[in-house]
Amino acid sequence: MSIPTARLTNTDAGIIKQLLPRIAAPWVLLLLFTTPSLAETQTPPASAIATAHPIATAAGHETLAAGGNAFDAAVAVSATLAVVEPMGSGLGGGGFWLLHRASDGFETMVDGRERAPLAATRNMYLDEKGEVVTGLSMDGPLAAAIPGQPAALVHIAERYGRLPLKKSLAPAIRAALNGFQVTEHYRDQARFRLEAMRRNPETAHLFLHNNDVPPVGHTIKQPALAATLKAIAKDGRDGFYRGAVAKKLLASVTKAGGIWSQRDFDSYQVVERTPIHGEYKGTRITSAAPPSSGGIALITMLNILSGYELEEMNELDRTHTIVEAMRRAYRDRAEYLGDPDFVQIPMAQLTHPDYASELRETIRFDRATPSQELKGNTLEQGGVDTTHFSILDEEGNRVAATLSINYPFGAAFVAPGTGVLLNDEMDDFSAKPGTPNAYGLVGAEANAIAPGKRPLSSMSPTFLESRDRTAILGTPGGSRIITMVLLGTLEFAAGNEPQAWASRPRFHHQFLPDLIQLEPNAISDATQQQLSERGHTLKTLKNNYGNMQALLWNRGTNRVTAASDPRGGGEALIKQHQPSK
Ligand code: DON
Repeated sequence: MSIPTARLTNTDAGIIKQLLPRIAAPWVLLLLFTTPSLAETQTPPASAIATAHPIATAAGHETLAAGGNAFDAAVAVSATLAVVEPMGSGLGGGGFWLLHRASDGFETMVDGRERAPLAATRNMYLDEKGEVVTGLSMDGPLAAAIPGQPAALVHIAERYGRLPLKKSLAPAIRAALNGFQVTEHYRDQARFRLEAMRRNPETAHLFLHNNDVPPVGHTIKQPALAATLKAIAKDGRDGFYRGAVAKKLLASVTKAGGIWSQRDFDSYQVVERTPIHGEYKGTRITSAAPPSSGGIALITMLNILSGYELEEMNELDRTHTIVEAMRRAYRDRAEYLGDPDFVQIPMAQLTHPDYASELRETIRFDRATPSQELKGNTLEQGGVDTTHFSILDEEGNRVAATLSINYPFGAAFVAPGTGVLLNDEMDDFSAKPGTPNAYGLVGAEANAIAPGKRPLSSMSPTFLESRDRTAILGTPGGSRIITMVLLGTLEFAAGNEPQAWASRPRFHHQFLPDLIQLEPNAISDATQQQLSERGHTLKTLKNNYGNMQALLWNRGTNRVTAASDPRGGGEALIKQHQPSK
């Protein structure tokens, strides 16, 4: 199967712009390109924020009420999640912030993904025999890449926000000083990482109680993290990457066997990347660019699926078709995707409809295609925690952001005196191309470790737009993120509300391992039976997965609706426009 090398433009707009001069009278052109569309002139009747924690949702609304825009609110929410959801994301991690500015339609993806330390080497997690050493890329400071979140927050505030950092970081500082209460979800995640957390006294002191999983309702205060946030509020990125905080981070990382240096901190750069665009039956998709695999895989799957009438299929054919699309997109993800600053990605080709047509031709309806029959044999890992939030302000500015420290509680290592929990995002690299990682999955050459390189991610903050509806969505969930966003997109395209996208039962295929992973009750028993008869292997998961935060602005009815995934403890809150404001 070949990837066409044909030149192409990613968006319909681009194609139309190319063709129109040949087919349309000049006045048509004028109408098309100078008259603002309804979307550009209309503003939403409300602001809306959906996050994984009620305190973070409130922090975002507080920031909007103080005169901030969606971008200031994104800074406030990100920083507050770092405090109240420490297992999911934090100053010691990174993420992708997808921004849409209403005034001029400008869109960008702020890439605050962690980078491998400059002293990192390709084989740093292998023993003398060349075998992967279990745990080395997951626990402790050697597992930690250079954090990008502090630089990204400063970048977003300075370039796109209206408020000083002092203002947008205030709710997070307050939450760190006042504390937050342990929930059942927190307990589950702490139990999962208990051993690693116990190994680092600072982590155990902050996030455990008597060296054990804290009880529900236990209050966790983080004065050192408050001080680090204050340093960022005062000195911007220097508050984290230079001075007292940097010194403490570097000293404790080095002492515990890590390889960070001041040069890593000085050279860390946020990168603005052009988002990935695609189209599915009248819905325009805007999603994460590499080093996330999300946007490209999502568009490949939707391009394949646009050749079918899913709505008219029975459950068996529909599930089979979606699974085969997933399988093919994840095969390509494994083969071609990595940090675009290091590897050449055939981006345009992978998202081209002609390529999807080729893939479609390989799908059979009488049987599953064994993954081994498809060329390529690699894949990358998932994870167990991370966070997503979505924001719409009253001007129509939007943010979709997915942030991570990878595993729950990251590397389970806190640098004393900083409150900063380090990520273990190095595990998102393939420690040894072709060899399974901790999740039993394997990675590709494109995602091998190199100094200063960003590990491949699945995080997929996404915007969806149809003629009269605009959506903002995303979720944590490791390698399953992209298929969750796919299923959400299909729900949107079918005309359903955020509640349906967030709550719908989920299934997933990622090329390897060659099986359909499904939530309990995601596929009826009869269909499961028929799918196995077609050659699919099914595995019902013990637990549900994902934590989608979704917003919808229906410009036709001028209503805003929102949903926080019922699987999580988050909150989606809509605040109606106050005319007096
Ligand atoms: O960037 C990635 O793809 C992973 N570090 C995300 C991990 C994750 O979503 C875990 N969530 N449940």
